[in-house]
Amino acid sequence: MENLKLGFIGAGFIAGFQAEALKNVRGADVAGVHSLKGAEEFAAMAKAAKLGDCKVYSSVAELCKNVDAVALFAPNYVRIELMEQIVEAVKGGAKLQGLICEKPLGRTVAEAKRLIELLNETGLPNAYFENQLHMKPIQKALKQLEPQRKSMGELTLARCAEEHSGPHEGWFWDPTRQGGGVLSDMGCHSIAVAWYMLTPAGKPLTFMKPISVTADVAMLKWGQEPYRKQLLDRMGVDYAKTPAEDFATGTITFRNPETGQRVRGQFTNSWMYDKQGLRLLMDGIGPGYTFEVNTLRSPLEVFIGDEAADAVADAEEALEKATASRGLLAVQPNEADLYGYVDELEDAVAAFSEGRAPFATWDYGLEITKLCQAAYMSAERGLTLDLTDPVVQKELDTYTSLIAQGRGAEALR
Ligand SMILES: NC(=O)c1ccc[n+]([C@@H]2O[C@H](COP(=O)([O-])OP(=O)(O)OC[C@H]3O[C@@H](n4cnc5c(N)ncnc54)[C@H](O)[C@@H]3O)[C@@H](O)[C@H]2O)c1
Repeated sequence: MENLKLGFIGAGFIAGFQAEALKNVRGADVAGVHSLKGAEEFAAMAKAAKLGDCKVYSSVAELCKNVDAVALFAPNYVRIELMEQIVEAVKGGAKLQGLICEKPLGRTVAEAKRLIELLNETGLPNAYFENQLHMKPIQKALKQLEPQRKSMGELTLARCAEEHSGPHEGWFWDPTRQGGGVLSDMGCHSIAVAWYMLTPAGKPLTFMKPISVTADVAMLKWGQEPYRKQLLDRMGVDYAKTPAEDFATGTITFRNPETGQRVRGQFTNSWMYDKQGLRLLMDGIGPGYTFEVNTLRSPLEVFIGDEAADAVADAEEALEKATASRGLLAVQPNEADLYGYVDELEDAVAAFSEGRAPFATWDYGLEITKLCQAAYMSAERGLTLDLTDPVVQKELDTYTSLIAQGRGAEALR
């Protein structure tokens, strides 16, 4: 069978990470790229790495005509216009086998629903990319604990955190383009993986029913001087005018529809975590057993003393969002694999090749968007939100957080 030809829209950070992941995946090539910037460099890198005969296409339509599956790896604020172009290409005869969308599916519930409407016009198999569900440490822990989960009872508490010192591009910091601050950007990951950890073995991703959410958001670092000015100079975003949260935390209660048991998922996310670099921290607690994942613990430690620090390579060589290039560094030898990119890509490639649905689809992405937006609503109103209340569900359909509207000053006191 011929390799599945992947086409990337966007050639930035995640496109690069996925290309790195593709080195570990069989059955697919990156055959094309369309991007506002960086397409030529990306194609040259992909060819040099023997990931495929990657061609640069100047339009979405041309890309769609020449590949088997398209991945939306462009920023959140261009999702809908790009998806409209994909729909047009499919209606115009492009024969695609699948579509991939990175997180978050939408910046609001309305946007996520619009994306699904557009998707339905194509009828294509679809993958929502939530890499953390696929992380080998999470998969292994849940598998290893399967006998305990069956005999003692499932996990009752999942605590998930993703933290680093702040994103790499200005649009992430701008709440009106990104859709909010760290809760919109990384809360979606932690909420998804907590929900998944609490799901009984063999049940679908949305089996556990979300009942309520209590959340809190704050701006702890990036609105204070001198950091506000650093952010303005580096990223062109002024948190005196349009602030976004750099810290978010919350608890979601889920109910098992078969037993009625209630369990809790807790998420914590920040852009003001000043340790070596990105840290994912997950722990799952059940009756009589526990597991813990901490991605800053690596089998590889590198130490670079002050005397030797001049010769240091790029700090990000060690770890995503690395903040230091000397001292004791945690170095992850294969981050693309550790964070789950390899396994999510492998799943999508296999699913599209076999004509079946991938592990996580856009419908699931919509549910994650709903939970994220409900967390904003809870934080804004300072109350626990009843997710079973039809009034709340209706409100969420048209809700845009004050932070995403650029009115963060009213919400972040
Ligand atoms: N799963 C993860 O861990 C993870 C990590 C980072 C980013 N993401 C998601 O991936 C998406 C992209 O993020 P990124 O970090 O790669 O951003 P980025 O800014 O690094 O790269 C975006 C790329 O899209 C291109 N682009 C912008 N507008 C475009 C348009 N209208 N048409 C075509 N190309 C366009 C840019 O030129 C750039 O190459 C976002 O939705 C983000 O949330 C996910």
